[in-house]
Amino acid sequence: MKWFAISSLVTALALFGVVVADELSDPPAPDGLRPGGTISEIQPAPEIAGETTLQGRMERNWPEQPPVIPHNIRDYQVDARFNRCLTCHSRGEAVEAGAPMVSVSHFRGRNDQVLLAVSPDRYFCVQCHVPQTDAEPLVGNSFRTAEQVLTEMLKRQEEGQ
Ligand code: HEC
Ligand code: HEC
Repeated sequence: MKWFAISSLVTALALFGVVVADELSDPPAPDGLRPGGTISEIQPAPEIAGETTLQGRMERNWPEQPPVIPHNIRDYQVDARFNRCLTCHSRGEAVEAGAPMVSVSHFRGRNDQVLLAVSPDRYFCVQCHVPQTDAEPLVGNSFRTAEQVLTEMLKRQEEGQ
């Protein structure tokens, strides 16, 4: 009987050890905007958002907004060797491509010096410009356009007088 008790204890401890070791070798990953699962688990990638549905260029919500891209950019290569965007948007190509030229701000360097080519700061276009798609926003936001902010400010001022 005594032996039986000891051997069950050893088995129980061993099982506990396995469970703990399992937890340690494959801990849960934090849940973020998509579920974390465990560290070693491969989660399916989220679906790629649909193509842009814009018809022509879009109004900017405030004067310095980087305009959204009104066309598809799937598979456009932008790396150290080649920049597909500039084959249409550079100073030299824009007219023939019928595309708006990158604005003059893109030719200013870090210390505000005027450059002949697009500044390296502005080389990776999609850091700032993105196509507008029908993707559901991942997090809510309370963005208001410049007009909305201004109208509300003026209204508050009038009411205050
Ligand atoms: C084949 C030529 C071509 C390529 C390549 C191209 N574009 Fe365009 N892009 C255009 C044209 C043409 C327009 C204007 C579309 C219109 O007027 O409807 C445009 C419009 C835009 C606009 C809107 C500008 C505004 O003032 O509203 C942005 C931003 C833009 N493109 C960014 C990009 C970026 C970033 C890339 C690379 C990832 C890129 N484009 C690649 C031709 C191109
Ligand atoms: C650091 C952010 C940033 C990067 C990177 C950037 N842009 Fe812009 N872009 C802006 C902003 C902000 C504006 C609007 C204000 C302005 O003109 O400076 C703009 C304006 C534009 C416009 C509209 C020009 C016009 O006169 O209507 C085009 C086209 C454009 N960018 C294309 C590009 C392309 C192509 C690249 C990559 C070579 C690029 N941008 C990289 C921020 C950026």
